[in-house]
Amino acid sequence: MPRRTDHLGLLGLLADSTGFVSGEALSRSLGVSRTAVWKQIGALRQKGHIIEAVSSKGYRFLGSPAPFDSDSLSCLLPSTIIEDFNFVFLNEATSTNTEAFQRADAASPEWTVVIADRQTAGKGRLGRQWVSPGGVNIYLSVVLRPELPPFEAPQLTFLSAVAVARAIEDTAALKPEIKWPNDVLIGGRKVAGLLNEMSAETDRVTFVILGIGVNINMLPQHFPEGLRTPPTSISIESGKSLSRLEFTSSLLTHLHAMYTDFKINGFDRIRHEWSCRCNAYGKKVRVDSGAAVISGDFLGIDHDGAMLTRLENGNVERIMSGDVTVI
Ligand code: BTN
Repeated sequence: MPRRTDHLGLLGLLADSTGFVSGEALSRSLGVSRTAVWKQIGALRQKGHIIEAVSSKGYRFLGSPAPFDSDSLSCLLPSTIIEDFNFVFLNEATSTNTEAFQRADAASPEWTVVIADRQTAGKGRLGRQWVSPGGVNIYLSVVLRPELPPFEAPQLTFLSAVAVARAIEDTAALKPEIKWPNDVLIGGRKVAGLLNEMSAETDRVTFVILGIGVNINMLPQHFPEGLRTPPTSISIESGKSLSRLEFTSSLLTHLHAMYTDFKINGFDRIRHEWSCRCNAYGKKVRVDSGAAVISGDFLGIDHDGAMLTRLENGNVERIMSGDVTVI
């Protein structure tokens, strides 16, 4: 059978060899240029394959990542919490939020986690699209069943944002910031977004879906033009590719610990940590709510997630939605 000439053909050649293979030999075997070989090596590394390069010898295959599936994820999670999770791994979903919502509606238990390799109709906030290519990022949705009145459900969005920020610090040693209400930024660029959806009766939440999208190994060319907040990924910021499994394990471990604490101690600790991590902490902000633009000192968040801003006349304004700029 003729060998494939794409990066999978290259991976096969490297994996079949015991030592180094020169770039020239690879380009001859695949019938492609050395530049093409070099680009494909980059693509394979981006997917987590470990390939050593030594200028006088060529390339040597050292290993492939564990599959992005529930067994591999369970191996990384602390044994004390594995049993709580019910993982649903999908190659493709329209939106993991839609998938998780349907499952929760059909009585799936708390900590059902739907994870997709890619989404064909990933949902962002305010009806926007969430760009969701395969193989590079994390798209996951968690079913929770908190005993909360519906107006307090946004507290869980703040909890998720703090969990994402902690996981970025743990796995990539970067310094993320949170932008109200629910963007996670690195160096002012958006690396993660959160979209929580809920089913509720008048005075009680039935379930909440925590939808979390994190750009892990996405490259600049994957991003569409014209996004409102300039995008980035963890690998762009750190200069290294990161295992999606490792990040997911860290994220779920933090989410689990924080939610357990939240059920016992309430929102105050999360509110405090969220405020300290917020890009507007101690600063002046301008808020465009569509209907009006106001500016004032950022004071933090209220119990229902409203942003508190002190205007120049001393009044404290509660802002429920809008675009915030630090000034
Ligand atoms: C935003 O910042 O606009 C929110 C983006 C939320 C994206 C995640 S990806 C996993 C989950 N499934 C979706 O369709 N959306 C959320």
